[in-house]
Amino acid sequence: MSEIYKNPSYTPIERTNDLLSRMTLEEKIGQMCIVDGRKDPETWIYKKHVGSLLHVTGDKVIKLQKMASKTRLGIPILFGIDAVHGHAFQSGATVFPSQLGMSSSWNPELLEKIAHITAIEVTLTGLHWTFSPVLCIGRDLRWGRIDETFGEDPYLIGILASAMIRGYQGKNLSDPYSILACAKHFIAYGETQGGRDSSESDVSERKLRSIFLPPFVEAIKAGCATFMAGYNAIDGIPCSANKWLLTNLLKEELNFNGFVVTDWDNVGNLHRKQKVAPNIKKACEIALSAGNDMIMSTPEFFEEAVKLVKEGIIKEDLIDKACRRILMLKFKLGLFDNKRFPNSKKAISILGCKEHRKIAYKSALESIVLLKNENNILPLSKEIKRIALIGPNCNDIQAQLGDWSFGARELEHPEIPTLDYHPEYDTSPIVTILKGMKKRAGNDIIINYEKGCDIIDKNNHNINKAVKIAKKSDVVIAVVGDTNILNGELRDRVELNLTGAQQQLLTALKETGKPLIVVLINGKPLTIPWIKENADAILEAWNPGLEGGNALASIIFGDFNPCGKLTISFPRHIGQQPVFYNQLPGWHSNRYVEMSAEPLFPFGFGLSYTNYEYSNLQVSSTNLKPTDKLTVSVDVHNTGKYDGTEIVQLYINDIYSSVTTPIKELKGFKRINLKAGEKKRVSITIPVSSLTLINSECKSIVEPGEFEIMIGSSSMDKDLLKIVVEVI
Ligand code: NOJ
Repeated sequence: MSEIYKNPSYTPIERTNDLLSRMTLEEKIGQMCIVDGRKDPETWIYKKHVGSLLHVTGDKVIKLQKMASKTRLGIPILFGIDAVHGHAFQSGATVFPSQLGMSSSWNPELLEKIAHITAIEVTLTGLHWTFSPVLCIGRDLRWGRIDETFGEDPYLIGILASAMIRGYQGKNLSDPYSILACAKHFIAYGETQGGRDSSESDVSERKLRSIFLPPFVEAIKAGCATFMAGYNAIDGIPCSANKWLLTNLLKEELNFNGFVVTDWDNVGNLHRKQKVAPNIKKACEIALSAGNDMIMSTPEFFEEAVKLVKEGIIKEDLIDKACRRILMLKFKLGLFDNKRFPNSKKAISILGCKEHRKIAYKSALESIVLLKNENNILPLSKEIKRIALIGPNCNDIQAQLGDWSFGARELEHPEIPTLDYHPEYDTSPIVTILKGMKKRAGNDIIINYEKGCDIIDKNNHNINKAVKIAKKSDVVIAVVGDTNILNGELRDRVELNLTGAQQQLLTALKETGKPLIVVLINGKPLTIPWIKENADAILEAWNPGLEGGNALASIIFGDFNPCGKLTISFPRHIGQQPVFYNQLPGWHSNRYVEMSAEPLFPFGFGLSYTNYEYSNLQVSSTNLKPTDKLTVSVDVHNTGKYDGTEIVQLYINDIYSSVTTPIKELKGFKRINLKAGEKKRVSITIPVSSLTLINSECKSIVEPGEFEIMIGSSSMDKDLLKIVVEVI
């Protein structure tokens, strides 16, 4: 019999069927395993026929792939990695802003490019699959993984995630520069209780379908090849144990035809932590029956699954189905056709190359949000000759790169700023704000730097020196925020105030009477009412990636007019959590005894060096059928002195509905460039069918009645023009 599976002239289905027919049960179950490639991968390849490895980088990839090619059937290994904002675990690769940072650009075309560059760099190092994008909704800011989200709005998340999926996967998976994307974490994982990672998500089916499912539906439409099941349980059922979720909803109702991977040891934890299985064998049975296709880092799965089939508890057909989904993608990627061995020479010249850095710079520029600019202190006037650059994040590489970058995830030692422990990682291409400002300032402006304080240890500071420098300067730029040990898995927080002696430092700098510009480098919104009140200007830079320092310098000196808008609301106080804009209407809920319930800075907010005026709102019709399209038009006038980019936002409210619906919901947006003084008519068209709600029977419908249509520069009422239309 000729080996059809080795012959590229057959289709992936024909090749998969042929290969499956040759495989033993053990070989099929091996394909369903993904394990940590840093721990004895050889045994996994030779003895357990492992299908996929994660977290391997460098030359080891070539070595392990060669080993796999020498096994009985020579099935290639699928290598996965968390390249979530660039291939950031790989020395020399391009590191983009964190996902939360890049979302502030509201620029899907840019995100598609970022993902495409990531795919190129990932493939050149021999890997095939990124566990990205994250489609979780960032609502409770105590949760450690807010920096990994695209913010709080399901519509925007769907648009940005689809763009990244297109960028990673390209037009065709067989393109050697395409990698598999992974929509994660399925589902409602961000809806934790108390912000505690992987706690129960208390979500009804209606809420799930209204808020959490829509971005994943967009991911399927974009062709996302893989889905990752969340750690969390919903209504008592862990996601990896939920047959309704993984099989009925995802594979049958939504026709997802890629494969589902569990998150790290989800299966083991059905027994060990969530305790819905009295032993690992039962956990494996539950996970298989629910519809997981690939099991991540539960080493016992291999032996237990073999036993379950041999004892007749699990039908081999179920194993075949899962294995088929995995093999199909391996064929589609061209893994069997040797198209994808790493190309070290090329990798060296392309990883972090000029072209890629240009996009990293652009994305850092567009992700920075100007939150305050009293008396137009920014951009800095030409008169300014001495700048005090003060603060713990002026020169902190890890804070600047953010989570899921080299050394950032050494959870066993959360107290260690880990890059110091990795001399093999080349930090020279990373431009901190200190480096960027010095370069941009040139010879005629003096930059005096002082760290001022440690970001964690309150007693470790040199505020006196910082004040001395400030007094001798024309302006103070204070760079504060948080750092990696305050973000990520196992790093949930109970407060969002500035840590260490940062507040003391800012207060002392303010007392010098010098103009105070605050730059925030942080993974998530912090509670900064003091800064809002006291700083002359605030720039939110998130974790801006390796070009962050150049981008900040360009904005501070006025080479670029900031245009980022928040995709997540800033609270005034941690006790207001959650403070997202698309709340359901309540009775008494807009005030606490101590303060307003309003956010400090809301979703969609972001200033510019220029001003935009909105006028002349019109709609294509005020009486609409569900099959119609609605076009909303408005004049936007740049009335200031700078050219700029404005993000025009369209919200709706279903005025009366059979169930409560959000007070505002984003339904469209447009980025427009306007020269100083220029006025443009901007139109956004949405299908009336997008004005849906999920009714009490969990059906998606557009209910007849009135809808308020709002368009403007942020989600705040004062920034929106409004008109009412009726759906008949
Ligand atoms: C656990 C994380 O929850 C997930 O996001 C990640 O992709 C996997 N580990 C693999 O590193």
